[in-house]
Amino acid sequence: MRKIQFFDTTLRDGEQTPGVNFNTKEKVQIALQLEKWGIDVIEAGFPIASQGDFEAVKAIAESAKSMTVAGLARCQKKDIDRAYEALKNAVDPQIHTFLATSDVHMKYKLKMTKEEVIASIKKHVSYARTLFEKVQFSPEDASRTEKTFLLEAVQTAIDAGASIINIPDTVGYSNPTEYGGLFSYLIQNIQSEQEIIFSSHCHDDLGMATANALAAIENGANRVEGAVNGIGERAGNTALEEVALALYIRKDFYQCEANIVLNETKKTSDLVSRLSGIPVPRNKAIIGENAYAHESGIHQDGVLKNPETYEIITPTLVGVSQNSLPLGKLSGRHAFVTKLNELGYQLSEDETKEAFIRFKDLADKKKQITDRDIVALLTDQSRVE
Ligand code: KIV
Ligand code: ZN
Repeated sequence: MRKIQFFDTTLRDGEQTPGVNFNTKEKVQIALQLEKWGIDVIEAGFPIASQGDFEAVKAIAESAKSMTVAGLARCQKKDIDRAYEALKNAVDPQIHTFLATSDVHMKYKLKMTKEEVIASIKKHVSYARTLFEKVQFSPEDASRTEKTFLLEAVQTAIDAGASIINIPDTVGYSNPTEYGGLFSYLIQNIQSEQEIIFSSHCHDDLGMATANALAAIENGANRVEGAVNGIGERAGNTALEEVALALYIRKDFYQCEANIVLNETKKTSDLVSRLSGIPVPRNKAIIGENAYAHESGIHQDGVLKNPETYEIITPTLVGVSQNSLPLGKLSGRHAFVTKLNELGYQLSEDETKEAFIRFKDLADKKKQITDRDIVALLTDQSRVE
């Protein structure tokens, strides 16, 4: 089985979510939970961005016990120096340097020519390598970069000492076929004497961040970047919990494994949601409130007979205590009787029939039927003492 490293950027790209601002104490708390979750590399922040970010990266670097701690730096000496200052006490420090390589970014944002971009990558990756053993380079907006120029930029970074190449789909523009193809192309065409880690970094603008990350893995990426709950700039980053579960549940297909401790998933998600103030949508894969809820009668009947009929993930696998069978107008008799028994009622066949009619009548008028509604439907005499 191929090992996939998980790189978490909740505290850097994730914090770029509008309205999210973690303080140092919160960042350390999240970092320690991420370490418990089994994250291999944490991007703790962007040390040059502010004094607060610098202090948080330093505090995480000094608190993490085993995971690699990374800091972001533009291709500028002052960024790299600041990252070094923040990360130098980490057990395993890593720098993440980046420079945009797409025409639109070079022309309008950087106002640099291709030659200048290549020279800057060479100069700054080489400099970063004098301070760090582990240097990651990202050609920002890689998926909109002309392919041969992307290869040139990546090869330049490798020749200058980068051992980790991250390929960002910065604006969530790519799709699985194209993004996966980019990895095959680069992996086949780079030249390196040392082993290079290829990493995916996807944004969710077209709702394909997880699919794209998995396509990268299928095509040779051995590291995946993302954020807990998929938070991040605009539509967010790849939701790491989705990739972790996809790899685990479809091990037969991907033939990969990871260090993620799956039953810490819900706890990690809850912590990030609480401290970021970004609620998890109810229908969110893996950790949404509805992810293990079955409402229709046919599904409820199936799940009561064997959960595998409609559940590909056992809730306890990700740290969710149990599934639920919320009662509504689509619910069937099987789930209704199960609920009656749970509430302590044993009704005769006729009583059940009558109660079920009254329940359906109520369910037509009310979106969610609570336990109190059920109790109110029944007579006290039918309660088992
Ligand atoms: O999306 C992106 O391009 C980034 C880079 C800094 C890697 O977050
Ligand atoms: Zn990003």
